Amino acid sequence: MNVRTGRKVQHYRTVGFDEAKNAVVLIEQRLLPHEFQLIHTKNFRDTAAAIRDMVVRGAGAIGATAAYGLAQGARAFKGKDLAAFQKHVDEVFTVLKEARPTAVDPVNAMLDVRAQMAAGTTVEEQQLRALHAAHHFADDDVEHCHALGKHGAPLITEGMRVLTHCNAGWLAFVDIGSATAPMYEAQAQGKKFHVFCDETRPRCQGASLTAWELAQQGISHSVIADNAAGHLMQRGEIDLVIVGSDRTLGRTGEVANKIGTYTKAVLAKRHKIPFYVAIPLSTIDWDMRSGFDIPIEERHESEVLGAWGIAQSAKGEGRGTKKGQRTYVRIGNPDSHARNPGFDVTPPDLITGIITPAGIFKPKELWKRRKELGYAEA
Ligand code: MRU
Repeated sequence: MNVRTGRKVQHYRTVGFDEAKNAVVLIEQRLLPHEFQLIHTKNFRDTAAAIRDMVVRGAGAIGATAAYGLAQGARAFKGKDLAAFQKHVDEVFTVLKEARPTAVDPVNAMLDVRAQMAAGTTVEEQQLRALHAAHHFADDDVEHCHALGKHGAPLITEGMRVLTHCNAGWLAFVDIGSATAPMYEAQAQGKKFHVFCDETRPRCQGASLTAWELAQQGISHSVIADNAAGHLMQRGEIDLVIVGSDRTLGRTGEVANKIGTYTKAVLAKRHKIPFYVAIPLSTIDWDMRSGFDIPIEERHESEVLGAWGIAQSAKGEGRGTKKGQRTYVRIGNPDSHARNPGFDVTPPDLITGIITPAGIFKPKELWKRRKELGYAEA
């Protein structure tokens, strides 16, 4: 995506790799929308920490980060002993996989990289193949988002009001995004429409990241509180919902996505509003047989009990912080604790269609169409 910083407009990918430094290059998403900064991770553990601490987030983006992290870890190995190298790569894989549990993209990405490494007969060959495969995964991610944007764009017609949840945009992928891809494509086709961005508590990816992206792209939008969607739907002010997914079960059509997605799907069904999920192929889990088996990340309670932002005034809220300084404010009662599940699972009967790079399918059709959707027979 093109990013405007001051007077400069430059194209960036969300995730990249610096070969000379053997570093994964990431946009520090925790600082957005207030500051645009790139960071270089020093080693694979640092890369895993960037995923865990949400410097980088969004299923596709953490998939590409894990692919590059695996290549980074493989390239850091010194020596020619292939058995010791494999053991080291196993450890890199595990550390990166455990950084965040719900999204399947990191696992699919790293399995891809490992499969391509396996054809190398020496450590050096495998190291070369690892980086090549990681670049390939990142390029595929961009291509998939582009293709699903083409399939999804006809769903958006002139004057429509579209609701999206969390950030399934460019920042959640290497480029373009999934839920945003049909919007960007519809905009390129000259259509005018409006997007409602759910704020998406507790981390507010909708209010901060999606709103920032859409503003950069010049798409008309408003942020709404998470609780406002039902009201707007009831009044006929939302025509279409498009969200992303962290794991879509190919066998059942269940969709794990940011907490609150399920609520929006129930509301959309009640108001007969089409509810679509946009995914690249790396988001499909072909093995799991029930949505109840999807590991749901439980994050720290401080995210629910407070919020991060920029101090607006030296006085008032955020007292003691300078204007413009990033700060955490406590919202919850000091003696209370919180639960913080990061994701929920939407059943297939609430989903109108899954927008994929191969076309739009009913959730229950995924398994039947698995060959077109990249399923490799074991
Ligand atoms: O916790 P996050 O910010 O990583 O959650 C992101 C989402 O839930 C997105 O909607 C999801 O990753 C789908 S788009 C890649």
